[in-house]
Amino acid sequence: MTRRRQIYEGKAKILYEGPEPGTIIQYFKDDATAFNAQKKGTINGKGVINNRISEYVFTRLSHIGIPTHFIRRLNMREQLVRQAEIIPIEVVVRNVAAGSICKRLGIEEGEQLPHTLIEYYYKDDALGDPLIAEEHIACFGWANNEEMQDISSMAIRINDFMVGMFAAINIRLVDFKLEFGRVFDGDYSRVILADEISPDGCRLWDMETNEKMDKDRFRQDLGGEEDAYNEVARRLGILQNDDSGPGEVFDLSAHRTKLRGKTK
Ligand code: TMP
Repeated sequence: MTRRRQIYEGKAKILYEGPEPGTIIQYFKDDATAFNAQKKGTINGKGVINNRISEYVFTRLSHIGIPTHFIRRLNMREQLVRQAEIIPIEVVVRNVAAGSICKRLGIEEGEQLPHTLIEYYYKDDALGDPLIAEEHIACFGWANNEEMQDISSMAIRINDFMVGMFAAINIRLVDFKLEFGRVFDGDYSRVILADEISPDGCRLWDMETNEKMDKDRFRQDLGGEEDAYNEVARRLGILQNDDSGPGEVFDLSAHRTKLRGKTK
């Protein structure tokens, strides 16, 4: 087998040159980081699950007309995607208050926001991804007005779709992060959804118990992150080795015991 050229190694993924020009292979690692990589760890099997969840979500989004970089999944940990010039902005969509907005504005976690909020963060690890206004994006030329129109309208459509998709499996979509990229056709460029959508970059709470089913389990040392990611995949119908349908009350401690009993 020929050795592939590595293009970039990020905190949770490695990018390799794809088989055809204009393509990239995304490899999903088990590495988990938080607080701008001040906290580091591994979540066993996370890469495999996130590869599948992201494939599933991107495919469903493409069915409602969202252009994405996803081409196809290659194997357990890799997917082929379209090469895009990443716009250096993290787009965070919030439905319910959690995480940084609570600290920043003194809002209680779990408070339903009066309406969906879109926030922008400048993607720069050295600066700790600071919150920015649309004015900064225009001022520094990170994206033009037309691109920002496309980004904000896609973010709202993606949110509407994902809120429903997760509600159907008894999960509340609290917030999530998106990244977009540019693809070029001659002189013409357009914006597509890039990166990944997985429990690493979403807050997902069980509707009945409010149990956290996302990377906050790792960030906050709650434990059970593998089971939580697995449960999200299982409810989405991605994992076939389950014996119960969606909609049951999710109690992580009980689930952990059950899983342990099964596997050992
Ligand atoms: P925040 O509340 O910490 O600002 O996070 C908002 C959402 O964005 C949450 O679902 C986690 C996700 N996120 C990332 O995917 N990457 C990041 O670097 C950060 C800070 C948040």
